[in-house]
Amino acid sequence: MARANALVGRWMEEAGMAVRTDAAGNLVGHQPGSDADAGTLLLGSHLDTVRDAGAFDGPLGVIAAIECVARLRAEEVGLPFSIDVLGFGDEEGLRFGTAYLGSRAVAGTLDRATLDLADADGITVREALAAFGPGPDAASRRGERLLGYCELHIEQGPVLEQRGAPVAVVTAIAGATRAEVRFTGRAGHAGTVPMELRRDAACALGDFVLAVEAAGNAQPGLVATVGRMTALPGAPNVIPGAAVASLDVRHADDAVRERAVRALRERAAAIATARGLELDWEQRMATPAVAMDPDLTELLAAAVAARGVPDVRLPSGAGHDAVALSELTATAMLFVRCAGGVSHHPDESVDPADVAVALDVLDDFLRRLAHRVG
Ligand code: GLV
Ligand code: MN
Ligand code: MN
Repeated sequence: MARANALVGRWMEEAGMAVRTDAAGNLVGHQPGSDADAGTLLLGSHLDTVRDAGAFDGPLGVIAAIECVARLRAEEVGLPFSIDVLGFGDEEGLRFGTAYLGSRAVAGTLDRATLDLADADGITVREALAAFGPGPDAASRRGERLLGYCELHIEQGPVLEQRGAPVAVVTAIAGATRAEVRFTGRAGHAGTVPMELRRDAACALGDFVLAVEAAGNAQPGLVATVGRMTALPGAPNVIPGAAVASLDVRHADDAVRERAVRALRERAAAIATARGLELDWEQRMATPAVAMDPDLTELLAAAVAARGVPDVRLPSGAGHDAVALSELTATAMLFVRCAGGVSHHPDESVDPADVAVALDVLDDFLRRLAHRVG
């Protein structure tokens, strides 16, 4: 993260921005406006990635925002409002099982319970931040005059390809719950303990993974995933005494998602009871579905229409920093078509021609916003 911030920070400086790191480790590039009272527009996305990731989920939105600022400077276009380009840290939530750490800090919604969450090595968010060397500036932007937050991101799905369109305006983002689920039984010798005397936690986890798949299959629009599983102590000749899994559940309708999570928790408890195990269920995140701001969205749609490309509106099944930022300010998002809809995979790719359209849209959006503010 430090190396990513240093590299992208250099690109921000080359685009003429003043660069700082905030107390949550977010990278911030500042481009002043001509009117000190006009407020600030936030642009950007995240710089962290998943494991075995592609290059575009997150970074494209940061790089595009930097490019827009560079373009305004090159063309000597002065905007009344300032622009802050944000490169958020830890949007994906790999390490602590909870997403949007950087953007929640900016939104002023990072609570103490989250700071106390521990990673697999027992290191808390608080300790990790202290070790990273927190930046000198407070992360929260609460109380500032903000015009909104606009995020450019790859679609991460196949719809734009299907429709033959380079970009889409996002309407809403699905809600998500994440939990850490732990079954505890008793470890033992794989050669000596007969099958009927075992309390094998990995077998319970196996039952649970299939229950998660069945829950997703049973409910239209529901997606439910176990993306990480660990059997402990983790040796070929030891019966697993504990097994830990991540759970990720999403749906556009919050009530459906919450019902599904409750049902899965009951199912996990039943699996544990049937096998004589303990269950620990730690909810690590629950974000409601979020609608984008109608005014900013219309400005963005007008900028798309001006390019002469199809007007595609899409909800997002993936989460974005815009979810956290929507608790702080008005948010809007622009999707860029990606090859095969592939994401969270090294094969992620975009067509530079589509990115060029998206940059023109973002540039036009900024000018339209300046016109409105003026
Ligand atoms: C972010 O990529 C998410 O939707 O989990
Ligand atoms: Mn992602
Ligand atoms: Mn992303």
